[in-house]
Amino acid sequence: MTRLLDVNDLRVSYGAVVAVNDVSLTIDEGEIVGLIGPNGAGKSSFIDALTGAIRNRGGNVQFEGRTLDRLAPHAVARRGLLRTFQSVELFDDLTILENLQVAAEQPTFLSMLRDLVVPSKPKGVDDIAWASSLCDLDDVLDRFPQELSHGQRKLAGVARALAKRPRLVLMDEPAAGLDTDESIAFGERLRSLPGHGVSVLLVDHDMELVLGVCDRIFVLDFGSVIGVGTPDEIRNDERVIEAYLGGHDVEA
Ligand SMILES: Nc1ncnc2c1ncn2[C@@H]1O[C@H](COP(=O)(O)OP(=O)(O)OP(=O)(O)O)[C@@H](O)[C@H]1O
Ligand SMILES: [Mg+2]
Repeated sequence: MTRLLDVNDLRVSYGAVVAVNDVSLTIDEGEIVGLIGPNGAGKSSFIDALTGAIRNRGGNVQFEGRTLDRLAPHAVARRGLLRTFQSVELFDDLTILENLQVAAEQPTFLSMLRDLVVPSKPKGVDDIAWASSLCDLDDVLDRFPQELSHGQRKLAGVARALAKRPRLVLMDEPAAGLDTDESIAFGERLRSLPGHGVSVLLVDHDMELVLGVCDRIFVLDFGSVIGVGTPDEIRNDERVIEAYLGGHDVEA
């Protein structure tokens, strides 16, 4: 088993508020790992710190054996660590295809110079086709985001991250607002990602989805990890049930 992500004692604070309190978490290649916890537990802050959107106040992050500390978000993305956002952030005046093209192209200074001299074919064509088909968007590529269902827009957000061929995707509530059928279909797509070389950190409040697709689950409460285990272990963990699962429908 190859270690993909190794987070040690990560700490994030906003002034006096400690949002992530010395959290350690690992993800191996091919794993789908869940990160759950009540509102305000620190899940989005954790993702923000990993992807360089905010600075961590302590701890360190290794991705494929190299440190990510102090890298800017675009540099983290170039290493193969991508995220999706809690709110869908598509460009409303671009079609779904154009949204995916913008994501996949990611020009570097050198590639822009090269294109000035020898214009190349559009980059990422295969990656876009792959991401679109995995997220079942082939029939809506020429539509604008507002013409899609909420579920399809969420999938387009996921496809946008996949179009960059990541090694690991951190998904922040991708199933929020999906109905039961859409959530089940989404879970099936998620399960197929490791077979394509993509590992996943899944943050979501949809417990059927998280308990159904994850290999291991970390539970956060007030910024601290209060439980780690397989879906069965988490379902039966007294502390987790009290802090979080009690108020949710968690039928197996
Ligand atoms: N930009 C910010 N400035 C100040 N405090 C913040 C900021 N962002 C988050 N917080 C605080 O940090 C804590 C963790 O918030 P965070 O958004 O990471 O939680 P979350 O687990 O993602 O919650 P949710 O399930 O509602 O998305 C909360 O107390 C929140 O109020
Ligand atoms: Mg959040």
